[in-house]
Amino acid sequence: MFKLHVNGKTREVDVAPDTPLLWVLRESLDLAGTKFGCGIAQCGACTVHLDGEAVRSCAMPISAVGTGKVVTIEGLSEKGDHPVQKAWEEVDVMQCGYCQAGQIMSAAALLKKNPNPSDEEIFTAMNGNICRCGTYVRIREAIKQAAAIS
Ligand code: FES
Ligand code: FES
Repeated sequence: MFKLHVNGKTREVDVAPDTPLLWVLRESLDLAGTKFGCGIAQCGACTVHLDGEAVRSCAMPISAVGTGKVVTIEGLSEKGDHPVQKAWEEVDVMQCGYCQAGQIMSAAALLKKNPNPSDEEIFTAMNGNICRCGTYVRIREAIKQAAAIS
């Protein structure tokens, strides 16, 4: 049995120690906003925050989470009104949407550490988030807009 801190609540899950956090979120805790893409830490679709850092939940065994605070897209803001989420809507970033929770979590972690990132810093921080629809230009625009309003 593992006790986790997820989106401000303590949750208990009965899973094997090597179960990836992504599986626990989606299947044990019904938090399906975090997506499975590659399963090998290459695409960023499964990105969540662990103690404020963007991490790939597909590659993180539940036993490694410990007392760290996990935040998923469901817990990023109360009403979907985080500056990054607002900017995403205003810029109309999404196409199919599949990669976008991971993109938003990476962008939110970036802006928390670096409220006014350069193009280069945005590129570096977002480099591991793949979008098969190619929304990269709008993602960059939305991150700049979120930086301006936050
Ligand atoms: S599903 Fe985790 S990085 Fe692709
Ligand atoms: S919006 Fe379709 S994969 Fe990114």
